[in-house]
Amino acid sequence: MSEGLEDVVAARTVLSDVDGVRGRLIIRGASLDALVEKSRYEDVLTLLLEDMIALPTALPEALGEARVRAFQQVESAADHLFILPPVDALRALLATLPDGDDADTALRLIAGTAVFTAAILRRRQGLSPIPPDPALGHAADILRMMTGITPEPDAAAALDRYLVTVADHGLNASTFTARVIASTGAGLLSATLGALGALKGPLHGGAPGPVLDMLDAIGTPSNAAGWIEDALGRGERLMGFGHRIYRVRDPRADSLKGALRLLRERKDGDGGRLPLAEAVEQAALAALRRYKPNRTLETNVEFYTAILLETLGFPREAFTCVFACGRIGGWIAHAREQSLTGRLIRPQSEYVGPRVDEAA
Ligand code: COA
Repeated sequence: MSEGLEDVVAARTVLSDVDGVRGRLIIRGASLDALVEKSRYEDVLTLLLEDMIALPTALPEALGEARVRAFQQVESAADHLFILPPVDALRALLATLPDGDDADTALRLIAGTAVFTAAILRRRQGLSPIPPDPALGHAADILRMMTGITPEPDAAAALDRYLVTVADHGLNASTFTARVIASTGAGLLSATLGALGALKGPLHGGAPGPVLDMLDAIGTPSNAAGWIEDALGRGERLMGFGHRIYRVRDPRADSLKGALRLLRERKDGDGGRLPLAEAVEQAALAALRRYKPNRTLETNVEFYTAILLETLGFPREAFTCVFACGRIGGWIAHAREQSLTGRLIRPQSEYVGPRVDEAA
């Protein structure tokens, strides 16, 4: 019995390999470093889903059309759904889609996650949702649907890099959830809804919002060391640090930091949040080494996710939804891979409750 299933291998996959010792992420034979340089999110979807589902050959076009279809769902959605916290509104809107195990369902889910996220953000600001532009790339269209303005190429490229970076990551909690649901024979929608529920928690995809709350509370680089000492002294966890698998720096953190630097050069001369973020990161790493000398706690993907998504104009309450826009590719690929094995996931539990007194 292993609490948290630590070190338990619960699936065979050709999709991704998280090498926690060397700090490497491999997606279907390609390193993340190579992928972010040469691939768009649509390419990574093709990479993940080929052999898993009968995808249309022209995926970017098919995905653009699927975004247009998903927007019809926005127009007919009940007003009260948009009052919910964004990730709950996203779950409710996705739940209005039909379930299935085919490519059409997969496209609806990938497109719907993007279209619904943008529409939820607009509606929460009292603005009308903006219909998709099927001719744009997926990342560029998410930004355009959110702001109404076709984004600068570097902003679109930065969001695209984010989506590529988070597309898949081994058997994380939400992906495992998707595989468990798929193993029962339920469809891709059911797997996605369950995965989104798992993603929401602050120990998984809900961390980047609290990262910004921490930066707000720290305020200036000179406050970083003292604030962090106090937080660790109170026994709190620092959001954006630590990982179940990585014992070195999460390679996705550097991928996102690279995207942020490109944006920063365009956006403002003062560097935005980056100088504060770097000071907090250094102070946190130094303090964690002292507080937890027996556990390597390094920067994880959520730390620079928070800074990047904020710089791109996403409100922090929506960060988990944007994470879902990328991770949905991995969820669907894993759900399909699990279905193809045909094997139900059904582990055992160890009963530690009272026993029936057989003698009585
Ligand atoms: N800040 C402070 N202490 C931390 C920590 C953090 N971010 N992450 C782990 N620790 C501590 C734990 O309190 C524990 O201390 P203890 O042995 O004295 O009880 C020790 O390090 C081991 O932690 P453990 O819970 O076994 O690590 P895990 O592998 O189960 O947890 C996370 C992984 C990601 C859940 C954990 O690091 C965390 O909560 N991070 C903050 C949330 C976050 O950034 N989530 C996004 C993940 S991508």
